[in-house]
Amino acid sequence: MADEHERVQLPHSPSTSTFKDDIFKGKVLFCTGGGSGICYEMTKAIMTHGAQATIVGRKAERLESAAQSLSQSTGKRCIAASGDVRKPEDLANAVRKTIEAFGRIDFVICGAAGNFLAPIEGISSNAFRTVLEIDLLGTYNTIKATLEEVKKTRGSYLHVSATLHYSGIPWQSAPSAAKAGVDALSNALAVEMGPLGVRSNCVAPGAIRGTEGMERLAPKGSEDLIDLGIPLQKMGEKGDIASVGVFLFSPAATWITGEVIVCDGGGRHFQGPMLPYPTSTLDPQAIKSLVTGSKL
Ligand code: COA
Repeated sequence: MADEHERVQLPHSPSTSTFKDDIFKGKVLFCTGGGSGICYEMTKAIMTHGAQATIVGRKAERLESAAQSLSQSTGKRCIAASGDVRKPEDLANAVRKTIEAFGRIDFVICGAAGNFLAPIEGISSNAFRTVLEIDLLGTYNTIKATLEEVKKTRGSYLHVSATLHYSGIPWQSAPSAAKAGVDALSNALAVEMGPLGVRSNCVAPGAIRGTEGMERLAPKGSEDLIDLGIPLQKMGEKGDIASVGVFLFSPAATWITGEVIVCDGGGRHFQGPMLPYPTSTLDPQAIKSLVTGSKL
């Protein structure tokens, strides 16, 4: 039985154990949603490898304190530009602040997102639009505000997508539709800007422990069940997504554009426990009585 087996969990390895310390020396990152969660961790990793950064978010106080702790922990400068990605003028201000402080933008992370659980019949038109406006229109607004600078540096975009829209997830219609749009927008950006040397990719995180998303979306007390439903037997760490960001901005990825890198421990390939899982893998004989028509 599964309980009798040791649950194998591969340890997380920080990007510094794989990539050189200074690969982003002289580079500047512009990150929406960088005040917390996955985007904070991505900003930290990219700054740890030498970049300076601007983080953008709606909660001014939290953003300011995040910028301070990012500067302290990495020894590089991070500035806060409070604003709402739904407002193009806020992003224009944030870009202006970034150019005044650092003179350039090399990397852009479009990470600001909004989400809540609501069934299609229960969500209002305004609520649906709100999620689309933050996730999809906010991504477009960020691209529009930064593109002129990113073209100058032949820089690169990374959009925080999701795996929700690969199948139908109940109570997630708005974010699923929005993230499908983000993937499509990234592809169009990759094709239009490729000839100018600008790349655009997405990272699609699965369940990541300790994020606002998991707090809002996962049923309470379901952590262990979620872990067991992931082929690699655990939820991801914020650092797992940060490492994908480091890779995609690094020179190792200069020929990668228009891609979605899924980082989910294999979760999207497992649609639910048709057979007891992981017992069916670890100890097939134990479930023999449940299986008909099999030569097990
Ligand atoms: N269920 C159903 N509808 C909801 C809702 C919920 N849990 N939360 C908000 N809404 C509706 C509101 O009722 C409103 O619709 P209405 O005018 O028809 O009543 C609409 O969504 C807009 O809500 P509002 O609170 O005005 O939007 P906001 O711009 O202040 O906040 C949200 C944006 C709704 C996305 C909010 O959840 C948020 O700020 N989230 C923070 C970031 C986040 O979600 N992180 C997780 C990322 S995975």
